[in-house]
Amino acid sequence: MDFKLTEEHIMIRDAARDFAKTELLPGVIERDEKQEFPKELVKKMGDLGFLGMMASPEYGGGGMDTISYILVMEELSKIDASASVMVSVNNSLVCWGLDTYGSEEQKKKYLSKLTTGEKLGAFCLSEPEAGSDATSQRTTAIDKGDHYVLNGTKNWITNGSSADYYLVIAQTDREKKHKGINAFILEKGVEGFEIGPKEQKMGIRGSDTHSLNFNDVKVPKENRIGEDGFGFKFAMKTLSGGRIGIAAQALGIASGAYELALDYSKQRKAFGTEICNHQAIAFKLADMYTSIEASRHMVMRAAWDKDQGQNYDLTGAMAKVYASKTAMDVTTEAVQVHGGNGYVKEYHVERLMRDAKITQIYEGTSEIQKIVISRGILRD
Ligand code: CAA
Repeated sequence: MDFKLTEEHIMIRDAARDFAKTELLPGVIERDEKQEFPKELVKKMGDLGFLGMMASPEYGGGGMDTISYILVMEELSKIDASASVMVSVNNSLVCWGLDTYGSEEQKKKYLSKLTTGEKLGAFCLSEPEAGSDATSQRTTAIDKGDHYVLNGTKNWITNGSSADYYLVIAQTDREKKHKGINAFILEKGVEGFEIGPKEQKMGIRGSDTHSLNFNDVKVPKENRIGEDGFGFKFAMKTLSGGRIGIAAQALGIASGAYELALDYSKQRKAFGTEICNHQAIAFKLADMYTSIEASRHMVMRAAWDKDQGQNYDLTGAMAKVYASKTAMDVTTEAVQVHGGNGYVKEYHVERLMRDAKITQIYEGTSEIQKIVISRGILRD
């Protein structure tokens, strides 16, 4: 057992840390207020290789391991979780999904542009009536011979308006239930594909979240991913890895809030001394640090399992439940350590607290993770 990072891991982590401090920190409050994320920043993340980290080098990817990816996710999330959710969706759900299950033509045409940041991807599974219950897809994809025709609505789609390529999950044969579901690659701008209004969100407000409507959208057959009926398994497999990325995002949000609280507690004085010298605050810091370190071990373990080719459904789900709860607990305590200052925007911790909540919801709520965990332990 070796808990040390390699030199390469440290270099990647430091590059992400540096980028987050120099490029993401300035303007993070304004981006949260205005609900926007400039294209130039997405391009810079692409130039640094953060958008296709684990994908094969022959399609422009970094060919890196999952540990490298979660180190980047943690560092970006300490400062700006809106940036890191774009990185997460593009890496774990879109690029990894295409790299692992796409055809040679799909990889050449789509993946090679997604890995470099030239194009951005979105993953479209959730629907107004199919969030946690993902097999209940109402969006239909009717087989018309050489193409499919898509009709329906998707909800809460990250990168909803900024993406160029969309992986869309839809029901082809309702009789076959989840075995009749397919996944497709859709290009922005095709006839009948409309982007709905932007959601007004509590947190990760810099990332754009939209509903999407499909009205008789034609998708060529060669844009289906995998065999007929593979769509639900495709979604489950990609989400399993995605959950490790979101766990790393939660870890980063918690670490960012903790570091701010620690610094603040060493400067702010009350009752004649820095507040970190009061046990009421010191014990909060001790609890925060302990749960962050426990989360880090769980996230690393899940990433390691994936890199070793072992099953990571269970360790990824456990890491997500634990790290996302830690993110909520730690950010709430970080606001408390800051007192009145914690409640105002310029101290950052209130934003981190708002951002933390989504990690208990997207890519499978904590309750869904507990279904995955309990089925896993009862089966084994
Ligand atoms: N890997 C491979 N196959 C899997 C799998 C996995 N991890 N999990 C399930 N499957 C397979 C099952 O084996 C089964 O196939 P067979 O019949 O061939 O055995 C099939 O999928 C159906 O599985 P279940 O019977 O377990 O299905 P279920 O209806 O009980 O639901 C669930 C399972 C785990 C609850 C699933 O519906 C789920 O994960 N729901 C949450 C959906 C989710 O995470 N949504 C996130 C939206 S995307 C997002 O948030 C991205 C973003 O923008 C940030």
